[in-house]
Amino acid sequence: MNYQWYPGHMTKAKRMMQENIKLIDLIIELVDARIPLSSRNPDIDELGQNKARMVLLNKSDLADPVYNKQWMDYFKGQGAYVLEVNSKTGAGIKGIQGMVQEACREKLERDRKRGILNRPVRAMVVGIPNVGKSTFINSFAGKACTKTGNKPGVTKGKQWIRLNKNLELLDTPGILWPKFEDQTVGMHLAFIGSMNDEIIVLEELACDLLDCLGEGYPEAVAGRYGVKGKASSAELLEGIARARGCILKGENLDLKKAAIILLEDFRSGRLGRITVEHPLQEST
Ligand code: G4P
Repeated sequence: MNYQWYPGHMTKAKRMMQENIKLIDLIIELVDARIPLSSRNPDIDELGQNKARMVLLNKSDLADPVYNKQWMDYFKGQGAYVLEVNSKTGAGIKGIQGMVQEACREKLERDRKRGILNRPVRAMVVGIPNVGKSTFINSFAGKACTKTGNKPGVTKGKQWIRLNKNLELLDTPGILWPKFEDQTVGMHLAFIGSMNDEIIVLEELACDLLDCLGEGYPEAVAGRYGVKGKASSAELLEGIARARGCILKGENLDLKKAAIILLEDFRSGRLGRITVEHPLQEST
């Protein structure tokens, strides 16, 4: 299956970001801790040249803690300011303000020398659809100031949020990029629900996910559905359909329903804390 999704509103959103970049001191980039590289939009590097950068490993509660630590080290090794967060509970959020000041130290120093005092840091918050940006902003700003939703692409308009006298945030719509050079990246994005499920053959996506889980977390599938052994991913999906009673008229298995169950279980953490992309693989 070819994984690709770049609807028109993303082109528009990217243009809005390009227009506003000159107002920005810092880019706060949310990535999904389960796929930290696949969930980084390469367009942001181009957009964010000469800007201070911060990376937040969001949904860290859904990712394997062993790999969370490795990813923290990986990003630090690249000179990035990085934090592990869970926007849903607010864990890790309180470390952000201090890190913002650190990441923008040069700018603040420059301002001070020019006699500009008390100008807030302006940060653009970016991230792919469904990465948890709205939840993060709600949690960080401490009130329900943005609309959240489970459909990729819900946050659409431009939105400035004044946090306090030191920091203002520009919320941006979740965007992807026009072409995935590596289809594995598209597949990872589909796993976590950052692509519109309606354009995807869910049975195929589920089989791709089962292949990945089989490599790193075979016990996750065996434990939840009681299907195991050396079965192919297609056979495992059939096993899940049987275990969950996904049967169509005429006793045929409803593989689409089984695929949805598997994907929902993975996305919500019911299969356990799973990291799909590993930093050591990336450095080889
Ligand atoms: P977006 O603006 O980037 O598109 O994402 P949004 O905040 O709407 O979040 C998408 C889904 O991810 C929501 O779940 C949200 O609760 C969940 N989420 C965000 N951050 C975290 C996190 O750090 N950990 C976990 N476990 N989940 C997170 P939902 O199922 O669509 O909504 P809800 O039922 O949770 O309200």
